[in-house]
Amino acid sequence: MQSNWIFIRIKSKIGLISTKILVLRGQIPCLATRSTARILFATAWLFCIAAYLPARSGYAVEYPRDYRKWVHVKSGLIGPQNPAFARYGGIHHIYANERAMEGYAAGRFPDGSVIVFDLLETKESSGATVEAERRFIDVMVKDSERYAETGGWGFEEFKSNKLTEGSLTAQERTACYSCHTGVKGHDFVFSAFRP
Ligand code: HEC
Repeated sequence: MQSNWIFIRIKSKIGLISTKILVLRGQIPCLATRSTARILFATAWLFCIAAYLPARSGYAVEYPRDYRKWVHVKSGLIGPQNPAFARYGGIHHIYANERAMEGYAAGRFPDGSVIVFDLLETKESSGATVEAERRFIDVMVKDSERYAETGGWGFEEFKSNKLTEGSLTAQERTACYSCHTGVKGHDFVFSAFRP
C-alpha cells in the first residue's frame, strides 16, 4: 500500500515536471521570438537615431552643393589697406539660392534661404587683378527653429582644402552672428541685391 502511494507520488511528480517542461517548451520559442523581436526593434531604433543624429547634431550646416550655379548677388575686393585684410583679404562673391532671393526682395529671409560668401585669393596679371585659389566659403542657412539662438541663421565656414567639412567652433559662430547683428533690421544680411 505504502509503496503504491510512493509510486503515485513519484508518478505525479514526474507528471508535474513533465507538464512544467511541456509548458516551458511551449513558451521557449515564444519567449525567443519575443526577445528577438525586441532586439530587432531596438536595433532598428538605434539605426534610425544614428542616421538622424549626424544630420541634426548640434549646429551642423550642410555644404551648399552647386552654389556656383545660384544667383550672383555681388562681388567685393578687400585689399591690404583694409583692417580685415588678414581674415577677408581677396576677392569675394556672394551667391543666393532661390529662397534667399525672395529674402533679398522682401527684406526678410524665409526658412530654407542659403547665402554663400565665396572668398578667393587674387593675383596680378599684366596690370589686371584676377581670381586665384579659393580661401574658404562662409555660409548662412536660414532655419528659424533650429538656429533660433543666432537670429534664425546657421553660420559655417568651409576651408578650401576641406570643402565639405565645416570648420567653425561654437565660439567662432557666435562671432559671425555678433557682427551680423549690426544689420539685424535687414534680417542679419549685409549685402543687397543689385538688379
Ligand atoms: C566683422 C564683421 C563680420 C564678421 C565677423 C563676419 N561677417 Fe559675414 N559679412 C560681413 C559683411 C560686411 C558682409 C557683406 C560683404 C559684402 O557686401 O561684400 C558679410 C557677408 C556675409 C555673407 C553674405 C550674406 C550677407 O550678409 O551679405 C555670408 C554668408 C557671411 N557673411 C557669413 C559669415 C560667417 C559664416 C561668418 C563667421 C565665420 C561671418 N560672416 C563673419 C561682416 C562680417
